[in-house]
Amino acid sequence: MAKLDHRWVYGLHIQNSGILKKCPTVLFERFQSNGRSRQYYACSACRDRKDCSFFHWADEKFSKTKRDLWDKFIKDSEPKDTEEELSRSLNEVLSVLPSERIYCANCSTLLTTARRSKHKACTLITPLTDIQLTQPSSFLPPRESAKKEAQYLFASSSVDVIINMLVKLQAKRVLCVGAPRIYEAIAMSEKLEMSALMLDIDERFQSFFKPQSFLRYNMFNHYFFDGKKAKETYQNFIAEKEKLVLVSDPPFGGRMELLAHNMKRIEQDWRTARHLDPQEQLPVLFIFPYFMEPQVLHNLSDFVMLDYQIDYDNHPLYSSGPKSMKNGSAVRVYVNQPASLFSFPESEGYHYCKPCNRWVFNNNKHCKKCKGCMSKDGRTYRHCDQCMKCVKPSWLHCTECSRCQPQDHKCKSQGVNGFQRQYAIFVEVLTTSAQIVQRKRNVENPLAVRMQERRKKGGNRHCHQIFQKKERET
Ligand SMILES: C[S@@+](CC[C@H](N)C(=O)[O-])C[C@H]1O[C@@H](n2cnc3c(N)ncnc32)[C@H](O)[C@@H]1O
Ligand SMILES: [Zn+2]
Ligand SMILES: [Zn+2]
Ligand SMILES: [Zn+2]
Ligand SMILES: [Zn+2]
Ligand SMILES: [Zn+2]
Ligand SMILES: [Zn+2]
Repeated sequence: MAKLDHRWVYGLHIQNSGILKKCPTVLFERFQSNGRSRQYYACSACRDRKDCSFFHWADEKFSKTKRDLWDKFIKDSEPKDTEEELSRSLNEVLSVLPSERIYCANCSTLLTTARRSKHKACTLITPLTDIQLTQPSSFLPPRESAKKEAQYLFASSSVDVIINMLVKLQAKRVLCVGAPRIYEAIAMSEKLEMSALMLDIDERFQSFFKPQSFLRYNMFNHYFFDGKKAKETYQNFIAEKEKLVLVSDPPFGGRMELLAHNMKRIEQDWRTARHLDPQEQLPVLFIFPYFMEPQVLHNLSDFVMLDYQIDYDNHPLYSSGPKSMKNGSAVRVYVNQPASLFSFPESEGYHYCKPCNRWVFNNNKHCKKCKGCMSKDGRTYRHCDQCMKCVKPSWLHCTECSRCQPQDHKCKSQGVNGFQRQYAIFVEVLTTSAQIVQRKRNVENPLAVRMQERRKKGGNRHCHQIFQKKERET
């Protein structure tokens, strides 16, 4: 898959050509020890230099040699099949028995047993039923690189809850951005009166879905890989005068400010296409971990976090399986709609809280003093009278710090320990980047973000790891 990864990544920068003019990459800024700084372009999709080595100093010329090299990378990793070829392979496969249908996981292609000989050394998935072909996420090996595509798939119970939320919103058109299972559920259903368009970076779905229903898209820079035609399909879909809802489940380590920026862009495209007033709001279901709530609300101020825990089939940490986080899944749905609209299954441990007028997890006990169901992480919080708020059950009130703290924390006087320092840096990086986005610079990129780069052992660890550490240690 290494080749495809290159295309995903480098394609962003170079397909548009003229890297310094139209390139939708993100502009970063590195601060040097002499107090000066220097800007560079890097990838907005990958969060680890190991995954994507694209790097270009902003003040250096993008030489012909360098461009040729990257062009070759892209060319080598472009899908070999055209739209017609993909459609022909699908029709051919549909015309034979399930036992004669094959998906080659190495070549990412559909074939019949008659063409098997070319794939002797490959991993082949067979047989394939009609239902499987309409739900490829049921058998495609998930791309699980935590720092890149991070493809974690909803358990069917969570698909049902999200579909119910869409029904509550009276959605007729659903734009699924990084949510293949929601797309598949809508496309397969005969009962639901909804249509869906799927936007995702994973090109493997092209073997199964037509270009009218699936577009390769990068949600970090609102980039459509297949050019004008793809953009038109998207525009036409959002322009129809039926209720549109956006559902997005991005990779969790993604930069929140970029995700928010591009969701707002979709909302603006929708307003423009339908000639709506600027105050009209596109309903959104945004799926992200609960401990990112401050960052989500900082960027999406009209949103509220619901207390429903999203379950995944293949995520060791975010599912409710044996290796799951100790308090169940950490992932929640954020909405820009009243929380009271949505109910969650009693059979899965949810109840309606009358004073709050919303559905919450059973462990989330209503606090009369706070006048709310205050738990965020699936545990029952404890009210601290000194702090005058509910806190995590494992925290104790520390007189030294004058607030509730994790039991193993080191008090102010003793200096912060490693984790706290790292978390502080993480918060600082996010805050800095958010402030910087507000000061958006008018360079030729659609979005220029200056971020202070952290040294490897300091704050430059990947957010995802820090999330996990934060979750474990609190
Ligand atoms: C956490 S998974 C969500 C899948 C969802 N839970 C489901 O079951 O439908 C993230 C999804 O976003 C896609 N993705 C990852 N990076 C992306 C990017 N830069 N732009 C668009 N989609 C991306 C992945 O291919 C994957 O389908
Ligand atoms: Zn990258
Ligand atoms: Zn093969
Ligand atoms: Zn309550
Ligand atoms: Zn309380
Ligand atoms: Zn306290
Ligand atoms: Zn203390």
